[in-house]
Amino acid sequence: MALSFAGNLSLCLGLMLGSWAVHAMSRTLPEASAEQKFEQWIGEHGRTYADSEEKGNRFEIFVDNLRFIEDSNHAGNRTFKLGLNAFSDLTVEEFLAIHTGLSLPPVHRNHPWTMPFSFMHANVTDVPDSIDWVEKGAVNAIKDQGQCGCCWAFSTIATVESITQIKIGNLPELSEQQLVDCTSGNNGCNGGWMDTAFEYIIQNGGITSETNYSYRATDGTCNTVAASSIVATITGYEDVPTNNEGELLKAVAMQPVSIALDASGQEFQSYSSGIFNGNCGTLMTHAVAIVGYGSTEDGTKYWKIRNSWGETWGEAGYMRIQRDFGQPEGLCGLAMHPSYPIM
Ligand SMILES: *[C@@H]1O[C@H](CO)[C@@H](O)[C@H](O)[C@H]1NC(C)=O
Ligand SMILES: *[C@@H]1O[C@H](CO)[C@@H](O)[C@H](O)[C@H]1NC(C)=O
Ligand SMILES: *[C@@H]1O[C@H](CO)[C@@H](O)[C@H](O)[C@H]1NC(C)=O
Repeated sequence: MALSFAGNLSLCLGLMLGSWAVHAMSRTLPEASAEQKFEQWIGEHGRTYADSEEKGNRFEIFVDNLRFIEDSNHAGNRTFKLGLNAFSDLTVEEFLAIHTGLSLPPVHRNHPWTMPFSFMHANVTDVPDSIDWVEKGAVNAIKDQGQCGCCWAFSTIATVESITQIKIGNLPELSEQQLVDCTSGNNGCNGGWMDTAFEYIIQNGGITSETNYSYRATDGTCNTVAASSIVATITGYEDVPTNNEGELLKAVAMQPVSIALDASGQEFQSYSSGIFNGNCGTLMTHAVAIVGYGSTEDGTKYWKIRNSWGETWGEAGYMRIQRDFGQPEGLCGLAMHPSYPIM
């Protein structure tokens, strides 16, 4: 009985509304809709595939991501939304292999800092309820590291650009590629970490501009940078005491901070908006910069992080991630390895 009722109903609608309604109804079938979303996504992101086999494989991955996104958004109990972005035809493994690139030295891998350090922001008492270094004009537009595992270079450059603006008043655009090509202790597109890059900048007497040494998303030989082309320099760097979001807060109140975190989940890959508190551990795979903090109207505290995955990811390239999550290492291990440049 139910079947014939539905049949009559759709026949009725078809008669009344004309043939476009039949198309509209077939569009709501799950498979058709996924194919349509895939075609639309391909158009938006300018994707091309070598052949129909590759396209078929990518479609399967896309559908897997799409289902994951829709299930998460429909669960109704999350403080964040997922969405399609430039990475929606990649598996988590592929995504991590080509778009992250943190490689901590073995002594620090999945351990907190061990060396003794000084922490110049230890006695900071002027810690506002919220701060946004982007609004303060101390952060450049979102960048895209592309298919090069050099998140570490983008994280380093972000915090060096910011401290330059905070101390001197002008916001330079500095060269990630110089770090990729020239930081001998790191591995270019195959990974590195920020403290080694800070060391390089200090020893090199500074770093040149993006225009002078522009980003190519691939490993290259180190071009000699003339002293006259140096546009920014730092005098040192420090590590924030590990596993302590309270100490991290003092540092971020004073300047953007480079951090390592675990970006290895499907939720992180498809994050679109809201306060992220999705699944992640402390597998240090990625590096970003914390550029602010605050809390929502309902009191949820968050850090604002600046990523290097372009503007289709997250809140126009940024993520708000839960702060004071209730574990010392912070959500996704974000409080394990923070550091910042000194000028
Ligand atoms: C949301 O609800 C789903 C089941 O409906 C559950 O599996 C999941 O753990 C919940 N998540 C949160 C953050 O409460
Ligand atoms: C912070 O204050 C303590 C106690 O007065 C002092 O010993 C320490 O040197 C100060 N640290 C910094 C970085 O200024
Ligand atoms: C590099 O930057 C400096 C300072 O901005 C500028 O004077 C110089 O002409 C640039 N050199 C090249 C090769 O672009």
